[in-house]
Amino acid sequence: MRAEFQFHPAERPLPDDEREKILADPGFGRHFTDHMASATWTPDAGWHDLRVAALAPVTLHPAAAVLHYAQEIFEGVKAFRHADGSVWLFRPELNARRFAHSARRLALPVLDEELFVESVTALVRADRSWVPPYDGERSLYVRPYMFGSEAFLGVRPAAEVRYGVIASPAAAYFAAGSGGVTLWVSENYTRAARGGTGAAKCGGNYASSLAAQVEAAEHGCDQVLYLSGDEHRHLEESGTMNLFLVTADREVVTPCLGTILDGVTRTSVLDLAVEHGLKAVERQVGIDELRAGCADGSIVEMFAAGTAAVITPIVGFKGNGYEQVVADGRPGAATLDIRRHIVDIQYGRAADTHNWLRRV
Ligand code: COI
Repeated sequence: MRAEFQFHPAERPLPDDEREKILADPGFGRHFTDHMASATWTPDAGWHDLRVAALAPVTLHPAAAVLHYAQEIFEGVKAFRHADGSVWLFRPELNARRFAHSARRLALPVLDEELFVESVTALVRADRSWVPPYDGERSLYVRPYMFGSEAFLGVRPAAEVRYGVIASPAAAYFAAGSGGVTLWVSENYTRAARGGTGAAKCGGNYASSLAAQVEAAEHGCDQVLYLSGDEHRHLEESGTMNLFLVTADREVVTPCLGTILDGVTRTSVLDLAVEHGLKAVERQVGIDELRAGCADGSIVEMFAAGTAAVITPIVGFKGNGYEQVVADGRPGAATLDIRRHIVDIQYGRAADTHNWLRRV
């Protein structure tokens, strides 16, 4: 029989009034719920010690593999409260599939996809009171992760691995919210190359993105627009989000998979496009094509998609020696329509015709 996450309630959960105060203005990633899920893997015992218990610091030997060789992966899933008080996860099985893919790439043990969904569900059930009230803005951001914890300095896959899930009440990821962000087209840094880890959600990708993010901020931009490192200079993704553009002839275009993340929101946009009179196209787009298209009006909107960022309009971008406004510099109609559609499904205001929600 399959193991289950045993629940050990926290002895000292945060008092109700303090939790309510946090939920009223959670920000992003600053506050954490009362519990966490955890499990340990070893070659002999497989996954064991599956539990949901009080949130607590993780104790590691200073030689733990993750601290030296970054053998680590993670995910982001959201839980939403509907108007009737019920709580729902959005497409967690896609996160489970991507987590398994990331695990293979980082030579970590694969966690059964059902067990992944079970761990997320068990934690959200335990911390149900932490899912912010229904308002179409706030949610509970759930963060599963896995890392090599074996104390050993040789370079090989760790023979002890820990899995965990924590959760954090969340408002908009960007302060500008649906008002739009600007991107810095990095010429100094690339995010991934063929055969690298670009399609895996691993901490190392985010560590190496920080210098580019600092560069973007120095140029007054919110995020980085990464290009492929080859002579084609194709659009890749934007640090924490997948990229989309909308053309004047009603195509919604996004870079092909390969060296970018297979985003859950990305897939959902492609699935919904036809319902908005748009043709979904996955193809390579060069930075020169993007600049020319924005300049001659054949590209009319840009946006980014991610679990944390939902759908965020891109209102302009800058690179070495140029600056380009997208259309009139305001969020586009198709972007806002698709955003509203996804958010309405997540909060139970639109019919879940694709069966994307999982009740907790
Ligand atoms: C997400 O959208 O879930 C992400 O992982 C992006 C970021 C917060 C790291």
